[in-house]
Amino acid sequence: MKRRAYLLLLLFLTGALYSCVRNEEAGPITHLAFSGPLISARTTMVTAWEFPKNPLSDSTLDDSRLSNDIRWGFRLFTNTPIEAPQFVPGKISCSNCHLNAGQRERALPLIGVAAMFPEYNRRSGRLYTLNDRIVDCFFRSQNATGVTGGIQSKAQISLPHQTSKEVLALSAYITWLARGYEVGQSLAWRGQNVIAEKNRIAVEKLDRKRGEALFMERCVNCHGEDGQGVAIGEKKAAPLWGPDSWNDGAGAARIYTLAGMIRYMMPYTAPGTLTDEEAQQIAAFINSKARPVFPFKEQDYISEKLPADSVYYPKR
Ligand code: HEC
Ligand code: HEC
Repeated sequence: MKRRAYLLLLLFLTGALYSCVRNEEAGPITHLAFSGPLISARTTMVTAWEFPKNPLSDSTLDDSRLSNDIRWGFRLFTNTPIEAPQFVPGKISCSNCHLNAGQRERALPLIGVAAMFPEYNRRSGRLYTLNDRIVDCFFRSQNATGVTGGIQSKAQISLPHQTSKEVLALSAYITWLARGYEVGQSLAWRGQNVIAEKNRIAVEKLDRKRGEALFMERCVNCHGEDGQGVAIGEKKAAPLWGPDSWNDGAGAARIYTLAGMIRYMMPYTAPGTLTDEEAQQIAAFINSKARPVFPFKEQDYISEKLPADSVYYPKR
């Protein structure tokens, strides 16, 4: 406990210093900052273990089946490879990308989001329920299709589906995060992890060597030169590439999508200090690496145009 406190202080100080040097707007953070129902995007790793809404300690939840699912959903979200090993061959939890269990601003937050579904999904060209969306994150971001080390026969694999008990529990947790929100009402914090269209650099103009140099400067301390993640106290980032990472059909395998995450979430000790350009160069470097293959890519973007940054898809 003591070591963790020391470590947090150290991380906090380096983070605060860095933000002073690099970003005049973001002053040093003196207390746990909240932005509405979310943890502020300007805080550093000091808030890594904070959950504004934590079902494990929330006394309004009882002993009912639903309350138990909400609690299990939270545990699945924050510790997926342990809670659902049959679906997760890699080392990623949902909360690796949706920081603070989906409760941090500009880190793909999920507060209120359940009330936005069902919604049209461009990749699949059809209406998506929340459970469809969760299954997709399992398939792609968590590489569930890689459980057998590649698809040999469909019968051999246990893939998550819309009514798998794990998917229902995750859905219960995410729906709980939307209690009190109006159906279909747009949320100020949704869709903020984006690089504005006008600041996007054409994919062929991005320089992965520059991205690599920036990665070595700003990311290796925690992610390692091999991108596989270094333990920092009780936290360890998931592999950014290689067999244990997200697969090539994931949202994070798209350059602008990944850049939008990196731009506002990372470096963890100084979020918001990279420029749009730097975030894109780093994303181009990370997504030039080999990662598991999503076997159903040819079924994506059939009715919609293939996005320019889907670099792992064959050109159409
Ligand atoms: C590798 C990073 C990554 C991991 C791991 C991940 N996600 Fe996601 N998730 C994303 C990205 C990126 C998006 C947004 C994609 C886009 O831009 O359309 C997203 C979107 C979502 C959405 C829709 C959000 C919205 O506002 O519409 C939900 C719900 C979701 N994820 C749930 C999960 C769950 C549950 C898990 C774990 C089983 C998970 N995610 C794991 C990256 C990830
Ligand atoms: C101070 C340590 C630290 C630094 C520096 C850092 N990260 Fe991270 N990063 C983490 C941790 C820890 C996580 C996992 C988040 C969690 O579980 O709360 C993470 C998560 C991520 C993720 C989500 C998927 C994953 O691997 O877990 C991406 C992508 C990422 N970092 C990219 C970067 C990039 C690019 C840089 C450099 C610009 C960077 N990070 C710098 C600690 C760091």
